Amino acid sequence: MKCILMNKNTEVLVAEYNTVSKFFDRIIEVKNIDYAPYILKSFYIKDDINDTFFRTNLSEWFRGRGIPSWRDKLDLLLHRLDISAPTELLDKAFGLSLSDQYWLKPFNSNIKYDDINFFDNDFDYAEFLEASLSLNSKIVKKETSLITPNNTTDGMLKKAWIIEDGTRYLLKGGYKNEILQPFNEVLASMICDRLGFNHVPYTLDVYKDTVVSKCPCFITKDTELITAYQIRNDMKRYDSEEDYEEYIKCLEKNDIFNAREKVENMYILDFLIMNEDRHLNNFGIIRDVNTLKWLDVTPIFDNGMALNIPYYDEEEVIISGHGRFFYEVKPFDEIIKVVHNIKRIDVEKLSDIPEEFDKLLHKYQSITKISDKRIYRLCVLLNRQINRLKKIIEEA
Ligand SMILES: Nc1ncnc2c1ncn2[C@@H]1O[C@H](COP(=O)(O)OP(=O)(O)O)[C@@H](O)[C@H]1O
Ligand SMILES: [Mg+2]
Repeated sequence: MKCILMNKNTEVLVAEYNTVSKFFDRIIEVKNIDYAPYILKSFYIKDDINDTFFRTNLSEWFRGRGIPSWRDKLDLLLHRLDISAPTELLDKAFGLSLSDQYWLKPFNSNIKYDDINFFDNDFDYAEFLEASLSLNSKIVKKETSLITPNNTTDGMLKKAWIIEDGTRYLLKGGYKNEILQPFNEVLASMICDRLGFNHVPYTLDVYKDTVVSKCPCFITKDTELITAYQIRNDMKRYDSEEDYEEYIKCLEKNDIFNAREKVENMYILDFLIMNEDRHLNNFGIIRDVNTLKWLDVTPIFDNGMALNIPYYDEEEVIISGHGRFFYEVKPFDEIIKVVHNIKRIDVEKLSDIPEEFDKLLHKYQSITKISDKRIYRLCVLLNRQINRLKKIIEEA
């Protein structure tokens, strides 16, 4: 299929897209490379638009928009939607997403972004929601159920975009039989609120006897998320703190206000909740898709893999204190050292957080069945981190 890769209303390039293999077989014309996905720009060679490396990366980028093969319970989702692979979904809705503005426009068509984007135009989400998040479901699929931004969500957790009163919300479940992730997301929001960190506000919702987290979309029709993974692609790699410094420099060069402090805030939160999952696709920046101006760092999102989720044992206390820092896995006590002026944090504002978290976990206990023992231990762990931070601040 001959098509145009669009960034909202801007034509990026014309290409032959293979609807069976889902690869771009040929690039016919490059119209506006500046508006291409950030990660592709550095692969582009002006005098060789069909360079295999660039074309492969374009295909990889597009395939990477789909639901990843490591999505929890992917087999169930595919079975319920009656499809064989997530790539089948890729071009069902022009490849549109709620995290950026890229789409594939069939060549010579009159389709307009305004008429198809999911920010303005409603979508049917009921089937996808049920297929993703219910424990048992018998779905009668409608034609429209695959025309949704749910075809292009990233990440391991089961999730679904829904619409409520015109707002787009992302619902996320727990991983496998774990149900703590949604609570950790809310805990992170509580902490960020107290400390004044810009964050995605997560709340809890109950969907068919499962507790899920719920957050509004932080992208608008005029913006896109560019992850740190994309940004570091054309940065030198050091495998040390230098990677972080280079990243901060890159943000500052692009005029992001207070970039260092905002990224530090994310690592302070990770320290407090022991978030192990701050990989390079779990933060980034927001860019204006019309002017290409970098607007801000992303509000802090995806904080569920915290408070030692992978190590919980009812019989034994195992504490792992390692987080992610660019290409390294390091103790939280080490990562926190990147914060220049830790004294700016008023840790007293967190004094009642363990108690609040305890209340929240107990409130939903009849659904989650999280034991009293575990709730107690989670709050002890949280309290321990708050006290550690207090000590670090005192000694700074
Ligand atoms: N509120 C949001 N608004 C827009 N895009 C989002 C939002 N939350 C998540 N995303 C996008 O969805 C992806 C997966 O969400 P994430 O919370 O990271 O889930 P997971 O825990 O499965 O990694 C993110 O990497 C981001 O691209
Ligand atoms: Mg994620």
